[in-house]
Amino acid sequence: MFNLAVFVSGRGSNLESILNYFSESSITVKVVISNKPDCYAVKLAAENNIECIFVGKAETPKFIDFERLIEKLKILKIDLIVLAGYLKKIPDEFIDQFPNKIINIHPALLPSFGGKGMYGANVHKAVFNSSAKVSGATVHFVNSSYDEGKIIAQRVIDISKVRSPEEIAEKVLKIEHELLPFVIKKFEEGKVQLLGSRVYLKN
Ligand code: GRF
Repeated sequence: MFNLAVFVSGRGSNLESILNYFSESSITVKVVISNKPDCYAVKLAAENNIECIFVGKAETPKFIDFERLIEKLKILKIDLIVLAGYLKKIPDEFIDQFPNKIINIHPALLPSFGGKGMYGANVHKAVFNSSAKVSGATVHFVNSSYDEGKIIAQRVIDISKVRSPEEIAEKVLKIEHELLPFVIKKFEEGKVQLLGSRVYLKN
């Protein structure tokens, strides 16, 4: 088994694509973690009988803190942590506990159009207004700065004919749903190699 922990905060379409893609495989979503107990992604997890953990800065009856979360994920023997639309910052203490095991999907071609505040519609508006002819999706390692970890994989789309940021969003989301499972599979197969400043995916 290759165990995933997936962090979510919203719609959950990437979680859904992971669940569909790996429904008949040894890759399992062992736990879903969220800062928003009422988001659609959490409902989706519950419908699929996946354990949900809510995380906050401090412990409350519903939320645990990141220190407890680290313990839990170690007990669950999580192989890879996937941020799929998680909107909060992951604390450094958490990142340090899982070196090269936390990845994020970003709806643009990093290192452009990333950083604080660059999420959701903001990203696609910025891309649209930049007059760029291409956009895409990026999967990267998570480090202590927003969207600055090493890039693992990217897919590019032609946006030369789009008329609105919403059109870009729709096109990008489609490729996200292919790119993220593709990368997760590479991790499971042990085909992700870090060499200096670059990440290589073996065939
Ligand atoms: C995606 O566009 C992803 O790239 C970004 O947040 C969005 C999440 O969408 N990090 P969903 O919740 O998976 O539908």
